[in-house]
Amino acid sequence: MISTLPALGVGLGFREPFRSDVLFHRDRIDFLEITPDHYLDVPAGKLQELELLADHFTLIPHGLSLSLGSAEGLDQGYRNQIVDLVRRIDPPWWSEHVAFTRAGGIELGHLAPVPFSREAIDILAANIAEVQELLDTPLILENITYDFRLPGDELDEGAFLTELTERTGCGLLLDLTNLYTNAMNHGGDPIDLLDRLPLDRVIQLHFVGGHWEQGVLIDSHSQPVPTQVWELMDFVLARAPVRGAILERDENLPPFESLLDELERARQLGRKHGRWPSPTSNGS
Ligand SMILES: [Fe+2]
Repeated sequence: MISTLPALGVGLGFREPFRSDVLFHRDRIDFLEITPDHYLDVPAGKLQELELLADHFTLIPHGLSLSLGSAEGLDQGYRNQIVDLVRRIDPPWWSEHVAFTRAGGIELGHLAPVPFSREAIDILAANIAEVQELLDTPLILENITYDFRLPGDELDEGAFLTELTERTGCGLLLDLTNLYTNAMNHGGDPIDLLDRLPLDRVIQLHFVGGHWEQGVLIDSHSQPVPTQVWELMDFVLARAPVRGAILERDENLPPFESLLDELERARQLGRKHGRWPSPTSNGS
């Protein structure tokens, strides 16, 4: 699967406040990630935004609420809406999280961690197979941050994600900031974790900075990318067949130019390792 995917380069997680900036600076943004949930059950004007973005960028849908880790199965109505939107966008790949957001009919409004257990792999694999039946577009899975672990871990995160991706054939969306945040908050060396991950399946990266609060690193998507995350990016780009990287800035938005500088820094790192050799060409 991976060898056939295009190298997209470095882009931005699209948020509404960025709308005019991304269009104005499209020669410095290789692709965009969009949140499909923002385009479900919306007025026609919002859907026109999607069409406008699609005219200028490759769009990668990044789902939030499919709840692939739900033991009760997928919400069929939501699943169908996501499948329809992904078909409509027709991206080279799309992504969701290794998490659940719904349990016992209750929407948590948050990405909750699944136990790293074989039972959880069975549940995720069944739900993933259900959407893979409906969509030919490759699905890649993102590692999340967690404040706590549920009881029942049988595997470490590396072994869990290795088994899960082997079972499902999915690639990985490796969130470097999530990996770093979990290591800071729960102990462990992020490089040790990277060594146990199936790096040959990493198709896309996420990166951003969080903030510290009372000794805890908060995954707030609110700060510039810290040095340690740049170092992890360099490490991964040297080893994994990464096709794209997305800066996920949501809060405390700085002047857009500084986000473009972060994109360029990531772009240079990818070029150094031959991941996206050609200069960006969007809109130029
Ligand atoms: Fe992420």
